[in-house]
This record gives sequence, C-alpha cells and structure tokens, in this order.
Amino acid sequence: MAAPVHLTGVERTFADDEIIVSKTDPKGRMTYCNDIFLRLAGYSESELIGQPHSMIRHPHMPRCVFKLMWSRIQSGTEVFACVINRSGNGDHYWVLAHVTPDLVQDGAIIGFHSNRRPQGRTRGQFGAVAGHFGAKGDWVKNHWFAPQEVKAPKSANLNFYAPPP
Ligand SMILES: Cc1cc2nc3c(=O)[nH]c(=O)nc-3n(C[C@H](O)[C@H](O)[C@H](O)COP(=O)(O)O)c2cc1C
Repeated sequence: MAAPVHLTGVERTFADDEIIVSKTDPKGRMTYCNDIFLRLAGYSESELIGQPHSMIRHPHMPRCVFKLMWSRIQSGTEVFACVINRSGNGDHYWVLAHVTPDLVQDGAIIGFHSNRRPQGRTRGQFGAVAGHFGAKGDWVKNHWFAPQEVKAPKSANLNFYAPPP
C-alpha cells in the first residue's frame, strides 16, 4: 500500500492578476515553471525542472481526470479543468487550469503548456465533494458543467464538477 501523503489542511491562495505557468516535454516532465508556480508549489526551480508534473498531484484529485486530460491534449485539444494541487509542505491550492499542446507546423506535439488562474467563486467548495467520485470516475462522467466565466469552445471543457446544492 502507498505511504500516506502528508497534508496540512492549509489552503494557499494567489491574486486574481497572477497566473501560474508551467511547460512540459511530451511526456509531462516539467521544462519551465514561473516564479508564481514556485511560490505556490513551495519548491525551487532546480527541484522541479525535469520532474514529472505529477510531483504536485494532490491525493484527493481523481486520477481519471488526468487520464481524460491526457487523452484530450495528446489528440491536440485544449482543456480547462479545476484542479487541487499539493504544495511541497502539504498545503494545497485550487486552480482553474488551461492546458494546451505546443504544436509545430506539421502538427507534431513538442510539449504542453499550462496557465492557471484562481478559481474565484468556486474556490473552497470542491473539497466537500471529493468523496462523491466513484472509484471509476462515474460521478465525474455524469456531472459536467462549464463555468460561465470561461469563454472557450464547449469541447475544451473537462470535468467541471458541480458541488451538490
Ligand atoms: C502541461 C501540464 C500541466 C499539468 N498540471 C498538473 C497539475 O497542476 N497538477 C497535477 O496534479 N497534474 C498536472 N498534470 C498532469 C500530470 O502529468 C499527471 O498526469 C497527474 O498529476 C496524475 O498523475 P498520474 O498520471 O501519475 O496518475 C499536468 C500535465 C501537463 C502536461
């Protein structure tokens, strides 16, 4: 059994005019992280570059979300998703992530790029619904909604899950 991951329960936040940015190679290993990413994740640049992006995965984040995300971005589609991440010391932070493939002229994918902004009005509500995910992600599959503030093709929206009323 995997060792339990240390969590503090402390939420980190960032300002509305800040954007957390990272880039990866085609396998998802980080090649760039901006200063805001380093601050929220609580790592130095040298600790992150070359590491898999799953290094900041929060244990409450269902893996099926990322499975679906990867299938979309590898087929050349952009994706928006609400994600909780884990900081190095066990704190957490919520983001609205936009993940896109980096394409060259012949359409080949040479890496991926993610910009994340604060979740605004939905921040904090999602922790309460983590338990609603079925083991196979059935709850996720059946509860989609696109937040109004995101102006993007409907096909780009991934797994926005509405908290129960
Ligand atoms: C550009 C890019 C950004 C990503 N950002 C995150 C992130 O912020 N948090 C996260 O947990 N996974 C992120 N991922 C997904 C991870 O690569 C990984 O699929 C996920 O953490 C689940 O881990 P697993 O694939 O080992 O199950 C990102 C992937 C890419 C390509």
